Amino acid sequence: SAVDFIAIDGPAGSGKSSVSKAVARRLGFGYLDTGSAYRALAWHVLDRGADTADADAVLAAASDFPVRLGLDPDDRTVRVGDVDITDEIREPRVSGAVSGVARVPAVRAQVNDLFRSLVAEAPYPAVVVEGRDITTVVAPDAPVRILLTAAPEVRAARRAGELSGENADAVAAALHKRDASDSAVVDFLNAADGVEIVDSTELDFPQTIDAVLTVIERLR
Ligand code: C5P
Repeated sequence: SAVDFIAIDGPAGSGKSSVSKAVARRLGFGYLDTGSAYRALAWHVLDRGADTADADAVLAAASDFPVRLGLDPDDRTVRVGDVDITDEIREPRVSGAVSGVARVPAVRAQVNDLFRSLVAEAPYPAVVVEGRDITTVVAPDAPVRILLTAAPEVRAARRAGELSGENADAVAAALHKRDASDSAVVDFLNAADGVEIVDSTELDFPQTIDAVLTVIERLR
């Protein structure tokens, strides 16, 4: 399509969402948080009272899934039908269920088609698309493909800082568990051929944004 994918993958707590959003804003690009679609589907399965570990139930829910995702980096509202679930999809019950939903191959194929059509019809010159398999599966031919990484302890500390009041050890354990089940589905801890690595372990937020902008300028 005429709209470029800026593909950014990385693990939970790598700063991927905040960095991708900031980069999109800076460049006047659209922004697509693919994790929010999987989260919305997990919410939808739970809302139907179905079992998120049951692949058939998940697939049935996915075939009747009126998710509405915007591409405006300043509006991250997520809806299923008319229900605004923007905040609910960040709750631990959804985070804990999402890997199970994301494991079903037919679900991934369907969600990937949704992502590709959202980008193809986007009213932007490019869309920053962040997730786990954007550089490898959704848009392997994207002009810009970046893997954003950070040391596990740094990721856990950042995530614990975001969720004020939560126990840092519990946050680290939940993060580790989700990364482990997600890694069994797609490898987002190692860069595929041609994917640029940006390691933010030693970088603060503005420095990470600059590092990503530098890669985009060089490749696009
Ligand atoms: O990025 P975020 O942590 O919000 O993603 C939530 C979950 O969605 C991940 O833990 C993973 O199970 C799933 N996901 C995925 N593929 C993507 C993006 C997210 O499987 N491209």
